[in-house]
Amino acid sequence: MKIAILPGDGIGTEIIAQAVRVLGVLDLHFETEQALVGGAAYEAHGHPLPEATLSLAKAADAVLFGAVGDWKFDKLERSLRPEQAILGLRKHLGLFANFRPAICYEQLTHASSLKPELVAGLDILIIRELTGDIYFGQPRGRRVSPDGAFAGAEEAFDTMRYSRPEIERIAHVAFQAARKRSKRLTSVDKANVLETFQFWKDIVTEVHAGYPDVELDHMYVDNAAMQLVKAPKKFDVVVTGNMFGDILSDEAAMLTGSIGMLPSASLDAAGKGLYEPSHGSAPDIAGKNLANPLATILSLAMMLRFSLQQPEAAARVEAAVQYVLASGLRTADIWSEGTTRVGTIEMGDAVVKALAGGSTAVGTKTTIIKS
Ligand code: IPM
Ligand code: MG
Repeated sequence: MKIAILPGDGIGTEIIAQAVRVLGVLDLHFETEQALVGGAAYEAHGHPLPEATLSLAKAADAVLFGAVGDWKFDKLERSLRPEQAILGLRKHLGLFANFRPAICYEQLTHASSLKPELVAGLDILIIRELTGDIYFGQPRGRRVSPDGAFAGAEEAFDTMRYSRPEIERIAHVAFQAARKRSKRLTSVDKANVLETFQFWKDIVTEVHAGYPDVELDHMYVDNAAMQLVKAPKKFDVVVTGNMFGDILSDEAAMLTGSIGMLPSASLDAAGKGLYEPSHGSAPDIAGKNLANPLATILSLAMMLRFSLQQPEAAARVEAAVQYVLASGLRTADIWSEGTTRVGTIEMGDAVVKALAGGSTAVGTKTTIIKS
């Protein structure tokens, strides 16, 4: 088995370095190979997703990804910007199913901006469709407006579209995931306004017929955004399109106190995946030993479980993270009075030590996603 390691930009290199150390102490003998991606790849090779990086990712059994992006690339034409690397990997690898858990760890309940009673014990799974919708829909571009009140003026346009098979396959993934949890699924749409999302709602309803044991409800995206801050614990599994999922998953992440804690998995039809922290490259804190490596370490755990068939190793890593939190160590993003503030490397050290010392047999909560 081979793991492609793509650190990327900003804090990407620092957090990936800690996850690689954790992988090292697990003693599993996977082959690993690193490659440049994002702005770092653009600077070295003139493209954010060089051919060599893409073929490595295709050939590997799993991809561990850091983060891409830096303001200094904002002026480049769109096709050369760092973000194109992650969008290209999703598209070329067919990674249509994005799992974004939002779990509020017991020790971090007070780090949330919501009242503790609203988030204590929160455990939501957002499933975001990742290769369709307005993100990839054609046509798109700029032109002179051909009609309407502003005919003749300059305009820009994108296309929101979903085909039946794209909706069916993500719906199946979501119903199956719901089955393994509390058997409740919320499909988020904007069927009251958009044709694309009326179609989405109709097809999710059709697919539901094959999962009578799962309770399905539909919610408009604006209401879902509101309910997420009003009563987040009412949700269990949420399935939605690419753009709504982008927005709602950031919102859900913040409920848990810090996006620095949240891993994610993006899977293809065969279960091959790319694993990345839910946060971005944070260039403002890059190189300062400030970033929280736990989201990346937990992404490694998801990789071990979903793509590398190592559920025991995954559980050990998750238990080590819980142990380190329970022992009071915190990076800046999750620090609070009475806890010990540490840097990226020291947090990595602590997880490695917990794993090596076998001190992970503490009573832990659930694994990130029940498999
Ligand atoms: C995410 C990010 C990406 C997205 C960007 C970096 C292209 O925000 O993974 O949520 O919009 O999908
Ligand atoms: Mg996003």
